[in-house]
Amino acid sequence: MGGVGFAVSGRRGDDPTQYPGKLTWYVVMTLMAAAMGGLIFGYDIGISGGVTSMAPFLEKFFPSVYHNQMDDTSTNQYCKFDSQILTLFTSSLYLAALVASFFASTMTKKFGRRKSMMFGGLIFLVGAIINAAAVHISMLIIGRVLLGIGVGFANQSVPLYLSEMSPYNYRGTFNVCFQLMITIGILVANLFNYFFAKIEGGWGWRLSLGLAGVPAIIIIISSFFLSDTPNSLVDRGREEEAKTLLKRIRGVENIDAEFNDILAARNDARLVQNPWQNIFRSRCYRPQLVMSILIPFFQQLTGINVIMFYAPVLFKTIGFGSDASLMSAVITGVINVLATCVSIGFADRWGRRTLFLEGGVQMLIFQIAVAALIGAKFGVTGDVTELPKWFAILVVICICFYVAGFAWSWGPLGWLYPSEIFSLEIRSAGQSVNVAVNMFFTFLVAQVFLGMLCTMKFGLFIFFAFFVVLMTLFCYFFMPETKNIPIEEMTRVWRDHWFWKRFMDEPVTRANEMTRIEQIC
Ligand code: BGC
Repeated sequence: MGGVGFAVSGRRGDDPTQYPGKLTWYVVMTLMAAAMGGLIFGYDIGISGGVTSMAPFLEKFFPSVYHNQMDDTSTNQYCKFDSQILTLFTSSLYLAALVASFFASTMTKKFGRRKSMMFGGLIFLVGAIINAAAVHISMLIIGRVLLGIGVGFANQSVPLYLSEMSPYNYRGTFNVCFQLMITIGILVANLFNYFFAKIEGGWGWRLSLGLAGVPAIIIIISSFFLSDTPNSLVDRGREEEAKTLLKRIRGVENIDAEFNDILAARNDARLVQNPWQNIFRSRCYRPQLVMSILIPFFQQLTGINVIMFYAPVLFKTIGFGSDASLMSAVITGVINVLATCVSIGFADRWGRRTLFLEGGVQMLIFQIAVAALIGAKFGVTGDVTELPKWFAILVVICICFYVAGFAWSWGPLGWLYPSEIFSLEIRSAGQSVNVAVNMFFTFLVAQVFLGMLCTMKFGLFIFFAFFVVLMTLFCYFFMPETKNIPIEEMTRVWRDHWFWKRFMDEPVTRANEMTRIEQIC
């Protein structure tokens, strides 16, 4: 199987001297500010699991769930927390984000990446305020939906912004900062939940939900100071501005090679009237479309959000007390942040494939270990009253290794890889497909997990392990390496790939590629 994915015989991108430039402070600061967009997403992921395990919150908004839990005397651990209405509260946000991402696509293309980020931050802020002030369940749901719209806009625009602004040989590093911010958001939310649950008077949940406004304010303020990407400026006809910006962010006068590539990409993009129609209909975009659907699908089918949303519940299920459960969630949160840093350091050095493959194998091993441990102790009945301490510690250790495997592979690369593979003409639409699929499966996992745990028991972990095997094989055979390839030159990775080249069958220049799109596809 010659060259499964590795070979990218190159024109410009293999030789970094072709795009002169250095890593300027201006671009570093800009990218850091933009990556803040990840915070609002991460904070949301981390906050809801803890809030929905706070008794005063449940008593106020979900009294039936609260009373059921209080009255529940069964010892079947697998089914203790199964409640559709409660999971709907968590997952409604992701449905809203899914829908919003399609509107974000048009806004990001027409008005630029920066405006989308700003808009996302503003809507998110309003959602956080409504949630903190909620006196009725309808306010909670409206707040959640607004948060979802904010997340949809931010996740659509921030990864694109990062990939376009970064010098191509640092693209992995900077894009992974988005994921780092997600993981920091999750951790901060876990810590807040831990402390706010202890507040007397039981109103700590208001703080947990309201503080989501802080990252929103950060992203709104920083997007005032950000400039848009050169690619987006050129796409909107502002060439001179783009040229000046490119000189500033690359720190050199000679930016002609990069600028001309962006111009060429823009000229091609203008031939494509309807990106949505093209991305779905034309053969030449098939590899990119497949990736934009399968990567977020696989990312969610790793089962990671079972841990992110339900770690406290899961740890309670295996016999931890309330406090110990929240604390264990904090521990997995710390591992998540630290392991993401590995990817920051190595995505551009070892490449995406090495991390994807290693992460997959590691997740698989520890998912099977968790299934075996829980299966051995709980069996199929789930009837357990007392569990030894060593057992609980062993489960937490295995979960930490699993989280680390995700955090340096499918976590960051699930956002990086799709954001760098689309041609300019379909980039915004492609990223929306990526966000929408991601949000749909995040929603699905959040919605069905507790029910699945109740019916599939420890087999649930085997279910996710099966998908990890599939995605690792998919990566090995079908995912070409993208490190060090300039973003506007990415089409060549498909042309050089043993499988995808059949969709790009002619040796094409950009111009005749477009003719092909127009005439054949
Ligand atoms: C995923 C989230 C997940 C998070 C965990 C992100 O890349 O999209 O669904 O909760 O990683 O760190």
